[in-house]
Amino acid sequence: MSRLIVISNRVSAPKGQSGGSQGGLAVALAAALREYRGIWFGWSGGMTDHFTGHIDLQRHEGVTTATIDLEGQDVDEYYNGYANKTLWPLFHYRIDLAEYDRSFGSGYERVNERFAETVAPLIEPDDLVWVHDYHLIPLGQQLRQRGLKNRIGFFLHTPWPPARLLTALPFHQRLVRSMLAYDLIGFQTEEWLLSFRHYIEEELGGTVDPDGTVRVGDRTLRAAAFPIGVDYKDFADTAASQEAAEACATLQDSAELKKVIIGVDRLDYSKGIEERFNGYRRFLEENDNWRGNVTLLQIAPPSRGEVHAYEAIRERLDELSGRINGEFAHVDWVPIRYVNQGYGRAALAGFYRAADVALVTPLRDGMNLVAKEYVASQNPDDPGVLILSRFAGAAHQLREAIIINPYSKDELSDAIRSALEMPREERIRRWNALIESVKRDDVVAWRRDFVAALEGVKVAA
Ligand code: G6P
Repeated sequence: MSRLIVISNRVSAPKGQSGGSQGGLAVALAAALREYRGIWFGWSGGMTDHFTGHIDLQRHEGVTTATIDLEGQDVDEYYNGYANKTLWPLFHYRIDLAEYDRSFGSGYERVNERFAETVAPLIEPDDLVWVHDYHLIPLGQQLRQRGLKNRIGFFLHTPWPPARLLTALPFHQRLVRSMLAYDLIGFQTEEWLLSFRHYIEEELGGTVDPDGTVRVGDRTLRAAAFPIGVDYKDFADTAASQEAAEACATLQDSAELKKVIIGVDRLDYSKGIEERFNGYRRFLEENDNWRGNVTLLQIAPPSRGEVHAYEAIRERLDELSGRINGEFAHVDWVPIRYVNQGYGRAALAGFYRAADVALVTPLRDGMNLVAKEYVASQNPDDPGVLILSRFAGAAHQLREAIIINPYSKDELSDAIRSALEMPREERIRRWNALIESVKRDDVVAWRRDFVAALEGVKVAA
């Protein structure tokens, strides 16, 4: 069996069952690497005065990690700059927030070269190389320029924007052409694949066949959708653990038998938290019988705080949550519990289980694993209800959720009322359909399908 070399911006060593506030990508990859002999390479999150290419190799719970430090200028231009001020907003359809500065573009290329330079010597001829996410789009090309003939795949965890938005990016062709160095490109859904196809056809004059074969000039590669999932079994076991039970009891006791609605998101403008709060406010306005009888627990750990758009959304949410609470609260009840702290997996599983309703309402999201984790954590005899944005990749699969347009306060308000009042039989019927999808398209299926497709790629001799 070939080894698997996973390369992503962040590397997150496994932290055990209760482990830290790892993002969806981190959890999914740690689970994948446990089964394959291989290495997970990326940025340590740390900084150095002078980049030396020194690699810190470590082994935790069957996963070998190899990390490098970056210079402050790298972090500014590559991570805060091109990745999170330029590509992230653009890929989430927010060209109004996308900033471009030529130093971002050059920092992005420099860091991708630094990644290639340091990881290339660790790669053996038979290894499969799997590059992740928008931070590292040109890495495949950088590796090829260093002579690598391995099968190299790329998976994008975010949406891929429509061609008409992508062309607003300076040097967009340079970025997309660099992707042609991969043998396989994976997207979360057919929708993002279709946008990619349009770009290839309209901007590069290439073709994408129905079987996913991409042809541009003399380059041939494959593109396909591989919807990511959660480690269903691990999550269901975690939800049944003592720690989760305690978290569940803490939340239920503190809510004193009132209904609990939960939202869990990195504090990001793409998650639609502001629209969610406004929808909940509309619900409280329209349903005075529910005032005092329901609590919205919004967990939103801050993220990317050095980027202005993140500071701005944080300020708006501070104000809005305060205003709604001020408007509706009584001495013995607040409508929103707004928490800027992250929680480990076990505590989250417990909170999900205690919550009668989950609001997963991003304005645009590659997949959204919170939706799947919520489903995986439910008690089969008395499951909660998932309200899901039609703009999350997960909505293509979790069709028995209450699917809403997150821009509409009225739809949100109606969905919250239906969810809170939904009879148990209907909750069970919907949950049975949802859990089938979560089990079938779990993280094991995702990595198996992607790796099998990468192994199956024919490479020129
Ligand atoms: C999203 C991205 C990941 C990223 C994560 C956390 O899920 O797709 O690549 O790691 O957010 O963001 P951060 O900037 O903290 O790594």
